[in-house]
Amino acid sequence: MSTSGAPVAITDFADMKRDGTRIVMVTAYDAPGARFADESGVDIVFVGDSAGNNVLGYPDTTAVSMDEMIMLGRAARRGTKRAFFLVDMPLGAFQASDEDAVHNAIRLVKESGAQGVKIEGGGAMVSRARAIVGGGIPVMGHLGVTPQSASALGGHKARGRTAQQARQLYADAMALQAAGCFAIVLEAVPARVAARITEALRIPTIGIGAGPDCDGQVLVWHDLLGINEGPAPRFVKRYADVAGEIRRGLAAFVAEVRDGTYPADEHVYKIPAEELALFESETATGVIAGDDWL
Ligand code: KIV
Repeated sequence: MSTSGAPVAITDFADMKRDGTRIVMVTAYDAPGARFADESGVDIVFVGDSAGNNVLGYPDTTAVSMDEMIMLGRAARRGTKRAFFLVDMPLGAFQASDEDAVHNAIRLVKESGAQGVKIEGGGAMVSRARAIVGGGIPVMGHLGVTPQSASALGGHKARGRTAQQARQLYADAMALQAAGCFAIVLEAVPARVAARITEALRIPTIGIGAGPDCDGQVLVWHDLLGINEGPAPRFVKRYADVAGEIRRGLAAFVAEVRDGTYPADEHVYKIPAEELALFESETATGVIAGDDWL
């Protein structure tokens, strides 16, 4: 697990749940981001389809394609040495059939280097999870708010705030565990409901807006580092002000180019004086001028 320096293995997660060692997961969408995450000791580097709104400029996650996930995954894989490397299956990659699900999960493993995949949803998606696990690929489930189906479920409002919804979450979590999932993300679920589900499962839960009693926590890179500005879901904690730093850096660059402060002497390449003298005399006498340049 993360503290030993050895690569994180899929089997570590059950041990961490048993030991009470909280699992840390973070999204990353490129090589430097994944390297920072890996070196900081997170257990799971996760290429989420939240890339859609965080790096690709879509309004939400629904437009993200398999090819985009593979491209982002390949980049993040190059930065990940020690953490377990997980890639999201985007909308359209698994919903239609078990065959699609297995085919696309295999693509993510072969083409982006994923060690496991995540799929959203319970109900019919339990069969997809079972099929992918049957194909030999580790699967993380995702219940509660599932952004790929947010419009069908009435938006991004917390799930599990009625006994009926909470019962459904519990049943789906049990079914995903029986299907062979190695862990389940619980997103925007009341803390007491998540705690009850976590206690009942043998596999770990990873919370995002699901309270402190989950077996681990995940946040989105752009949220936790303060790259995203403005209103955020209540579970987001900003650990840095990267947007502020970016703005400060760019404003200084603009100002220094305008006023000539940049580049200074230390940013400039030098030519030996005799070479310069030769070059200047040649250009002054026209020795290297003329048709040679045409
Ligand atoms: O895509 C994503 O970033 C996610 C996390 C919220 C778990 O699914």
